[in-house]
Amino acid sequence: MTRSSAPGKIYLFGEHAVVYGEPAVPCAIERRARVGVEPRDDATLRVHSDDLSLDGFTVEYAGSTDGKPDIDVAESLVDAAMGYVDEAIAQVREVTGEPDAGFDVTIESDIPLGAGLGSSAAVVVAAVDAATRALGVELSTAELAERAYQTELAVQEGQASRADTFCSATGGAVRVEGSDCRAIDAPDLPLVIGFDGGAGDTGALVAGVRQLRDEYSFAADTVASIGDIVRQGETALADGDVAELGRLMDFNHGLLSALGVSGRSLDSMVWAAREAGALGAKLTGAGGGGCIVALDPTPETETALRYLPGCEDVFRAELADEGVRRLE
Ligand code: MEV
Repeated sequence: MTRSSAPGKIYLFGEHAVVYGEPAVPCAIERRARVGVEPRDDATLRVHSDDLSLDGFTVEYAGSTDGKPDIDVAESLVDAAMGYVDEAIAQVREVTGEPDAGFDVTIESDIPLGAGLGSSAAVVVAAVDAATRALGVELSTAELAERAYQTELAVQEGQASRADTFCSATGGAVRVEGSDCRAIDAPDLPLVIGFDGGAGDTGALVAGVRQLRDEYSFAADTVASIGDIVRQGETALADGDVAELGRLMDFNHGLLSALGVSGRSLDSMVWAAREAGALGAKLTGAGGGGCIVALDPTPETETALRYLPGCEDVFRAELADEGVRRLE
Protein backbone atom coordinates (compact mmCIF):
# COMPACT_ATOMS: atom_id res chain seq x y z
CA MET A 1 0.00 0.00 0.00
CA THR A 2 1.24 3.52 -0.84
CA ARG A 3 0.40 6.04 1.89
CA SER A 4 0.55 9.82 2.19
CA SER A 5 -0.71 12.29 4.75
CA ALA A 6 -1.54 15.98 4.51
CA PRO A 7 -2.39 18.59 7.15
CA GLY A 8 -5.58 20.52 7.82
CA LYS A 9 -5.47 24.29 8.23
CA ILE A 10 -7.04 27.32 9.84
CA TYR A 11 -7.61 30.66 8.17
CA LEU A 12 -5.97 33.50 10.06
CA PHE A 13 -7.65 35.80 7.56
CA GLY A 14 -9.43 35.98 4.24
CA GLU A 15 -11.77 33.00 3.67
CA HIS A 16 -14.61 33.68 1.22
CA ALA A 17 -13.04 36.96 0.02
CA VAL A 18 -10.21 34.85 -1.47
CA VAL A 19 -12.72 33.37 -3.92
CA TYR A 20 -13.03 36.90 -5.45
CA GLY A 21 -9.29 37.49 -5.80
CA GLU A 22 -8.62 39.10 -2.42
CA PRO A 23 -5.60 37.77 -0.51
CA ALA A 24 -5.94 35.19 2.30
CA VAL A 25 -3.59 33.75 4.91
CA PRO A 26 -4.27 30.12 5.85
CA CYS A 27 -1.88 28.19 8.15
CA ALA A 28 -1.44 24.42 8.15
CA ILE A 29 -1.98 22.75 11.54
CA GLU A 30 -0.80 19.43 12.96
CA ARG A 31 -4.04 17.54 12.36
CA ARG A 32 -3.75 15.20 9.41
CA ALA A 33 -5.63 13.06 6.94
CA ARG A 34 -3.81 9.85 5.97
CA VAL A 35 -4.70 8.10 2.73
CA GLY A 36 -3.51 4.63 1.73
CA VAL A 37 -3.91 3.42 -1.85
CA GLU A 38 -3.61 -0.01 -3.47
CA PRO A 39 -4.03 -0.25 -7.28
CA ARG A 40 -6.66 -2.78 -8.37
CA ASP A 41 -6.71 -4.92 -11.49
CA ASP A 42 -10.05 -3.40 -12.55
CA ALA A 43 -11.27 0.21 -12.89
CA THR A 44 -13.28 0.20 -9.64
CA LEU A 45 -12.75 2.68 -6.84
CA ARG A 46 -13.42 1.37 -3.33
CA VAL A 47 -13.06 3.68 -0.35
CA HIS A 48 -12.86 2.58 3.25
CA SER A 49 -12.83 4.82 6.29
CA ASP A 50 -13.46 4.23 9.97
CA ASP A 51 -13.25 7.84 11.04
CA LEU A 52 -14.44 10.23 8.38
CA SER A 53 -16.68 11.84 10.99
CA LEU A 54 -16.18 12.37 14.68
CA ASP A 55 -18.98 9.91 15.39
CA GLY A 56 -16.95 7.13 13.82
CA PHE A 57 -18.44 4.63 11.41
CA THR A 58 -17.29 2.46 8.61
CA VAL A 59 -18.12 3.20 5.04
CA GLU A 60 -17.52 1.02 2.03
CA TYR A 61 -18.19 2.94 -1.13
CA ALA A 62 -17.87 1.48 -4.60
CA GLY A 63 -18.06 4.79 -6.43
CA SER A 64 -21.77 4.64 -7.16
CA THR A 65 -24.95 5.24 -5.19
CA ASP A 66 -25.85 1.56 -5.52
CA GLY A 67 -22.67 0.43 -3.84
CA LYS A 68 -23.24 2.62 -0.82
CA PRO A 69 -24.39 1.14 2.46
CA ASP A 70 -27.08 2.66 4.62
CA ILE A 71 -25.40 5.29 6.76
CA ASP A 72 -27.50 7.18 9.25
CA VAL A 73 -24.77 9.52 10.51
CA ALA A 74 -23.70 12.60 8.61
CA GLU A 75 -24.63 10.96 5.33
CA SER A 76 -24.41 14.12 3.29
CA LEU A 77 -20.95 14.84 4.68
CA VAL A 78 -19.75 11.40 3.73
CA ASP A 79 -21.29 11.83 0.28
CA ALA A 80 -19.41 15.11 -0.02
CA ALA A 81 -16.13 13.49 1.08
CA MET A 82 -16.63 10.65 -1.40
CA GLY A 83 -17.27 13.23 -4.12
CA TYR A 84 -13.84 14.70 -3.40
CA VAL A 85 -12.19 11.26 -3.51
CA ASP A 86 -13.93 10.36 -6.80
CA GLU A 87 -12.76 13.60 -8.40
CA ALA A 88 -9.22 13.27 -6.95
CA ILE A 89 -8.93 9.85 -8.61
CA ALA A 90 -10.24 11.35 -11.89
CA GLN A 91 -7.35 13.84 -11.67
CA VAL A 92 -4.92 10.99 -10.97
CA ARG A 93 -6.17 9.04 -14.00
CA GLU A 94 -5.68 12.12 -16.17
CA VAL A 95 -2.23 13.15 -14.94
CA THR A 96 -0.85 9.59 -15.09
CA GLY A 97 -2.44 8.82 -18.46
CA GLU A 98 -4.11 5.72 -16.93
CA PRO A 99 -7.85 6.30 -17.56
CA ASP A 100 -8.81 2.82 -16.30
CA ALA A 101 -6.84 2.80 -13.07
CA GLY A 102 -8.84 1.45 -10.11
CA PHE A 103 -7.90 1.64 -6.44
CA ASP A 104 -8.69 0.46 -2.95
CA VAL A 105 -8.44 3.63 -0.87
CA THR A 106 -8.27 3.78 2.92
CA ILE A 107 -8.77 7.10 4.70
CA GLU A 108 -7.95 7.93 8.30
CA SER A 109 -8.41 11.48 9.48
CA ASP A 110 -8.15 13.44 12.67
CA ILE A 111 -9.73 16.47 10.99
CA PRO A 112 -13.52 16.76 11.47
CA LEU A 113 -15.40 16.86 8.15
CA GLY A 114 -16.72 20.17 6.85
CA ALA A 115 -15.76 21.98 10.05
CA GLY A 116 -13.48 24.66 8.60
CA LEU A 117 -10.20 22.82 9.20
CA GLY A 118 -9.59 21.84 5.59
CA SER A 119 -10.59 18.17 5.80
CA SER A 120 -11.46 17.86 2.12
CA ALA A 121 -8.26 19.56 0.93
CA ALA A 122 -6.16 17.31 3.19
CA VAL A 123 -7.89 14.15 1.93
CA VAL A 124 -7.58 15.28 -1.70
CA VAL A 125 -3.88 16.23 -1.42
CA ALA A 126 -2.98 12.96 0.34
CA ALA A 127 -5.11 10.90 -2.10
CA VAL A 128 -3.64 12.46 -5.25
CA ASP A 129 -0.10 12.09 -3.89
CA ALA A 130 -0.53 8.45 -2.82
CA ALA A 131 -2.42 7.34 -5.95
CA THR A 132 -0.01 8.97 -8.42
CA ARG A 133 2.97 7.44 -6.60
CA ALA A 134 1.23 4.05 -6.58
CA LEU A 135 1.20 4.31 -10.40
CA GLY A 136 4.90 5.27 -10.47
CA VAL A 137 4.41 9.02 -11.08
CA GLU A 138 6.02 11.59 -8.74
CA LEU A 139 4.34 15.01 -8.85
CA SER A 140 6.17 18.13 -7.69
CA THR A 141 4.48 19.98 -4.82
CA ALA A 142 3.29 22.63 -7.31
CA GLU A 143 1.76 19.97 -9.61
CA LEU A 144 0.16 18.25 -6.63
CA ALA A 145 -1.35 21.55 -5.41
CA GLU A 146 -2.66 22.24 -8.92
CA ARG A 147 -4.32 18.80 -9.25
CA ALA A 148 -5.83 19.13 -5.78
CA TYR A 149 -7.15 22.59 -6.68
CA GLN A 150 -8.70 21.22 -9.91
CA THR A 151 -10.39 18.56 -7.76
CA GLU A 152 -11.97 21.16 -5.43
CA LEU A 153 -12.94 23.34 -8.38
CA ALA A 154 -14.80 20.44 -10.02
CA VAL A 155 -16.57 19.35 -6.82
CA GLN A 156 -17.50 22.92 -5.81
CA GLU A 157 -18.84 23.65 -9.31
CA GLY A 158 -16.22 26.18 -10.31
CA GLN A 159 -16.18 28.07 -7.00
CA ALA A 160 -12.97 27.46 -5.10
CA SER A 161 -9.75 29.26 -4.34
CA ARG A 162 -6.31 27.71 -4.33
CA ALA A 163 -5.87 28.51 -0.64
CA ASP A 164 -6.94 25.26 1.08
CA THR A 165 -5.21 22.86 -1.28
CA PHE A 166 -1.98 24.89 -1.65
CA CYS A 167 -1.69 25.24 2.14
CA SER A 168 -2.28 21.53 2.68
CA ALA A 169 0.26 20.55 0.00
CA THR A 170 3.05 22.87 1.19
CA GLY A 171 2.37 23.23 4.93
CA GLY A 172 3.30 26.32 6.96
CA ALA A 173 1.68 29.73 6.68
CA VAL A 174 0.87 30.79 3.13
CA ARG A 175 -0.44 33.81 1.28
CA VAL A 176 -2.80 33.23 -1.61
CA GLU A 177 -4.08 35.89 -3.98
CA GLY A 178 -5.63 34.55 -7.18
CA SER A 179 -3.07 32.17 -8.69
CA ASP A 180 -0.18 33.72 -6.71
CA CYS A 181 0.48 31.28 -3.83
CA ARG A 182 3.54 31.48 -1.61
CA ALA A 183 4.95 30.58 1.79
CA ILE A 184 5.25 33.39 4.34
CA ASP A 185 6.97 33.60 7.73
CA ALA A 186 4.73 33.39 10.78
CA PRO A 187 5.66 33.63 14.46
CA ASP A 188 4.65 30.83 16.83
CA LEU A 189 0.98 31.66 17.39
CA PRO A 190 -1.03 30.64 20.50
CA LEU A 191 -3.89 29.11 18.49
CA VAL A 192 -6.92 27.68 20.29
CA ILE A 193 -9.60 25.88 18.25
CA GLY A 194 -13.21 25.50 19.41
CA PHE A 195 -15.46 23.01 17.59
CA ASP A 196 -19.27 23.00 17.89
CA GLY A 197 -19.58 19.44 16.54
CA GLY A 198 -21.30 20.70 13.40
CA ALA A 199 -20.36 21.35 9.82
CA GLY A 200 -21.11 23.75 7.00
CA ASP A 201 -21.74 23.03 3.33
CA THR A 202 -18.85 24.87 1.65
CA GLY A 203 -20.45 24.91 -1.81
CA ALA A 204 -23.76 26.32 -0.50
CA LEU A 205 -22.05 28.92 1.72
CA VAL A 206 -19.79 30.10 -1.13
CA ALA A 207 -22.84 30.30 -3.43
CA GLY A 208 -24.73 32.30 -0.78
CA VAL A 209 -21.95 34.88 -0.55
CA ARG A 210 -21.86 35.13 -4.34
CA GLN A 211 -25.60 35.84 -4.46
CA LEU A 212 -25.36 38.45 -1.70
CA ARG A 213 -22.45 40.10 -3.48
CA ASP A 214 -24.42 40.20 -6.74
CA GLU A 215 -27.49 41.73 -5.09
CA TYR A 216 -26.09 44.16 -2.51
CA SER A 217 -23.21 46.57 -2.93
CA PHE A 218 -22.48 46.37 0.83
CA ALA A 219 -21.49 42.72 0.31
CA ALA A 220 -19.04 43.60 -2.48
CA ASP A 221 -17.61 46.34 -0.20
CA THR A 222 -17.40 43.83 2.66
CA VAL A 223 -15.40 41.41 0.51
CA ALA A 224 -13.02 44.26 -0.40
CA SER A 225 -12.76 45.26 3.29
CA ILE A 226 -11.76 41.70 4.19
CA GLY A 227 -8.95 42.12 1.64
CA ASP A 228 -7.82 45.28 3.49
CA ILE A 229 -7.83 43.40 6.81
CA VAL A 230 -5.70 40.65 5.28
CA ARG A 231 -3.11 43.17 4.03
CA GLN A 232 -2.94 44.75 7.50
CA GLY A 233 -2.72 41.26 8.99
CA GLU A 234 0.30 40.50 6.85
CA THR A 235 2.09 43.54 8.30
CA ALA A 236 1.15 42.44 11.84
CA LEU A 237 2.46 38.93 11.08
CA ALA A 238 5.73 40.29 9.72
CA ASP A 239 6.08 42.49 12.85
CA GLY A 240 5.18 39.59 15.16
CA ASP A 241 2.46 41.86 16.63
CA VAL A 242 0.11 39.22 18.09
CA ALA A 243 -2.19 41.78 19.79
CA GLU A 244 -2.82 43.51 16.45
CA LEU A 245 -3.36 40.12 14.76
CA GLY A 246 -6.08 39.38 17.34
CA ARG A 247 -7.78 42.73 16.77
CA LEU A 248 -7.80 42.14 13.01
CA MET A 249 -9.21 38.62 13.49
CA ASP A 250 -12.10 40.17 15.44
CA PHE A 251 -12.77 42.59 12.56
CA ASN A 252 -12.56 39.74 10.06
CA HIS A 253 -15.16 37.74 12.02
CA GLY A 254 -17.52 40.73 12.04
CA LEU A 255 -17.22 41.07 8.27
CA LEU A 256 -17.83 37.33 7.75
CA SER A 257 -20.97 37.66 9.93
CA ALA A 258 -22.13 40.50 7.68
CA LEU A 259 -21.77 38.09 4.74
CA GLY A 260 -24.11 35.67 6.54
CA VAL A 261 -21.66 32.80 7.06
CA SER A 262 -21.44 32.78 10.85
CA GLY A 263 -24.06 31.22 13.10
CA ARG A 264 -25.23 31.12 16.69
CA SER A 265 -22.78 28.48 17.93
CA LEU A 266 -19.81 30.03 16.11
CA ASP A 267 -20.70 33.47 17.48
CA SER A 268 -21.14 32.15 21.00
CA MET A 269 -17.71 30.42 20.89
CA VAL A 270 -16.15 33.62 19.51
CA TRP A 271 -17.71 35.69 22.32
CA ALA A 272 -16.76 33.17 25.00
CA ALA A 273 -13.15 33.34 23.78
CA ARG A 274 -13.13 37.15 23.75
CA GLU A 275 -14.70 37.34 27.22
CA ALA A 276 -12.06 34.90 28.48
CA GLY A 277 -9.40 37.37 27.36
CA ALA A 278 -8.42 35.99 23.95
CA LEU A 279 -6.52 38.53 21.85
CA GLY A 280 -8.97 37.84 19.03
CA ALA A 281 -11.29 35.16 17.67
CA LYS A 282 -13.01 34.36 14.41
CA LEU A 283 -14.71 31.53 12.58
CA THR A 284 -12.40 29.60 10.27
CA GLY A 285 -13.21 28.20 6.83
CA ALA A 286 -16.56 28.33 5.11
CA GLY A 287 -18.58 28.81 8.33
CA GLY A 288 -22.18 27.82 8.97
CA GLY A 289 -20.99 25.56 11.79
CA GLY A 290 -17.73 23.94 12.76
CA CYS A 291 -14.71 25.69 14.20
CA ILE A 292 -13.48 29.01 15.48
CA VAL A 293 -9.86 29.97 16.01
CA ALA A 294 -8.76 32.21 18.88
CA LEU A 295 -5.40 33.64 19.91
CA ASP A 296 -4.66 33.15 23.60
CA PRO A 297 -1.30 32.41 25.23
CA THR A 298 -3.06 31.75 28.57
CA PRO A 299 -5.27 28.72 29.39
CA GLU A 300 -8.35 30.96 29.85
CA THR A 301 -9.95 30.52 26.41
CA GLU A 302 -9.53 26.74 26.52
CA THR A 303 -11.18 26.64 29.95
CA ALA A 304 -14.05 28.92 28.89
CA LEU A 305 -14.74 26.90 25.73
CA ARG A 306 -14.51 23.60 27.57
CA TYR A 307 -17.42 24.66 29.78
CA LEU A 308 -19.43 26.42 27.06
CA PRO A 309 -22.67 24.56 26.18
CA GLY A 310 -22.53 23.78 22.46
CA CYS A 311 -18.74 23.56 22.26
CA GLU A 312 -17.94 19.87 21.67
CA ASP A 313 -14.16 19.99 21.54
CA VAL A 314 -11.37 22.44 22.24
CA PHE A 315 -7.69 22.02 21.53
CA ARG A 316 -4.49 23.93 20.92
CA ALA A 317 -3.19 23.78 17.35
CA GLU A 318 0.47 23.69 16.41
CA LEU A 319 1.52 25.07 13.05
CA ALA A 320 2.46 22.22 10.67
CA ASP A 321 5.67 23.18 8.87
CA GLU A 322 5.46 20.12 6.66
CA GLY A 323 2.72 19.74 4.03
CA VAL A 324 2.20 16.45 2.22
CA ARG A 325 4.18 13.66 3.88
CA ARG A 326 5.09 10.34 2.27
CA LEU A 327 4.49 7.55 4.75
CA GLU A 328 6.04 4.11 4.90
C1 MEV B 1 -13.24 27.11 2.57
O1 MEV B 1 -12.32 26.36 3.37
C2 MEV B 1 -12.63 28.43 2.18
C3 MEV B 1 -13.49 29.28 1.25
O2 MEV B 1 -12.81 30.52 1.08
C4 MEV B 1 -13.70 28.61 -0.10
C5 MEV B 1 -12.42 28.55 -0.93
O3 MEV B 1 -11.48 29.30 -0.70
O4 MEV B 1 -12.41 27.73 -1.88
C6 MEV B 1 -14.85 29.58 1.87
